[in-house]
Amino acid sequence: MKTVINSMTVYTFGNKAKQPLIFVHGFPYDHTMWNNQIKRLQKDYYCVAYDIRGLGESYVGDGQYTMEAYVDDLFSIINELNLDKPILCGLSMGGYISLRAVEKSQTTFNALILCDTKADADDDKGKLVRAEKINQINVEGLEKFVNEFVPNCFADETPKKKKKMFTETLEITKQQNPLGVKGALFAMLSRTSTKIFLKKIKIPTLLLVGAFDNLTPPTVMKEMADKIKDSEFGIAPRAGHMSPLENKSFVNDIISGFLKRRLNQ
Ligand code: MLT
Repeated sequence: MKTVINSMTVYTFGNKAKQPLIFVHGFPYDHTMWNNQIKRLQKDYYCVAYDIRGLGESYVGDGQYTMEAYVDDLFSIINELNLDKPILCGLSMGGYISLRAVEKSQTTFNALILCDTKADADDDKGKLVRAEKINQINVEGLEKFVNEFVPNCFADETPKKKKKMFTETLEITKQQNPLGVKGALFAMLSRTSTKIFLKKIKIPTLLLVGAFDNLTPPTVMKEMADKIKDSEFGIAPRAGHMSPLENKSFVNDIISGFLKRRLNQ
């Protein structure tokens, strides 16, 4: 079912009486990046996926976003849909949102799944790169940015081996509103670090990452996993930064195995 909450487009799948599972997508994509996981998990979970403010079909507004506003948006969806103790699953920027949401209110959530993400905020070099990208979109347009950024999110073999999926992702991304994409870049460059919080996470947590993720490599995620008590960690073979799209069977199996083991579901 499709609904609009707080000017965001939200999609729900499955039976509302089941354990809720919220998917938060990465930058600069939309909720459809979770289609493979939703297809598999909706029989056991009430799956919720939404387009982050400014991306996909959600309202773009003035393009002035912060990570805090994204987190408030997530809580507004939880409240509006009356979701009881949802599991939160975020990839990359979706992971930044998820970690900050759990830092703000850990008791709201039943479990956390972090895919291809990190806890550190951008360092000075990273902030300057983001500023350059915002400028590039202003000067050269979104398409040039997308053509450079998106291939780097995938393992080297993916564009050839999974050509249809890769091309579709590229095309969907080119349709994004440039204002929303620039707003997301600014929200990421101005976000706070959640590194110190990792040791305080008490809910069951799974971290997974593509073996060939260039943006948030396995070493970075393993370091995070080592800081989170009793967390589980997995490396998706034949995948880059977009592991849920590049190796769906590995990602589906590891998520459902983790939830069965840790939540008995
Ligand atoms: C993402 O996949 O959400 C972005 O690559 C994250 C980032 O640029 O930091």
